Amino acid sequence: MKALKIITVPDFEKELRRKSKPVDLNKLDDPELQDFFDDLLFTMLNAEDQVGVNGVGISAVQVNRHIRVFWALDVKKDKPRLYINPEIEVLDSTIVVGKEGCLSIPEVYGMVPRVRKIRVKYFDRKGHPHTVVLSGFNARIVQHEYDHLEGILFTDKMVKGPAQGSKQVDFA
Ligand code: NI
Repeated sequence: MKALKIITVPDFEKELRRKSKPVDLNKLDDPELQDFFDDLLFTMLNAEDQVGVNGVGISAVQVNRHIRVFWALDVKKDKPRLYINPEIEVLDSTIVVGKEGCLSIPEVYGMVPRVRKIRVKYFDRKGHPHTVVLSGFNARIVQHEYDHLEGILFTDKMVKGPAQGSKQVDFA
């Protein structure tokens, strides 16, 4: 496994704002694509070497590959999950404002409103469909990563709010 280059603003803002295309599930047996999934996770777990912090999520777009793929940590299980062609359905539209950062936006963090609970339909690396219900911080990470697939950055949604909400900032 190897670390891929994480693209950041302002130099790569144009690339970060490009919308990603669905993965062709018939091509999941391509070893290059499978290696890419592993390399993307490796990049997230070793992001500190590149941008000074490690991540709890990373999207393919953040290494300049515009396919609808991201990794997001399940903080309750302490395990990263690969999401391919994810679709989000809102289960609880209550807005929760929480602190976020992004591996592609070094040294910036802010308060971002997200919905409390979502259902995510996605495919795994073998092309099998799955459904998972996420709430709280797990739901926040996935909403942040899904935005990346749409070319949206958390700074677009940032609101002014009390910065004392949480001591820890997590980067995705
Ligand atoms: Ni991000």
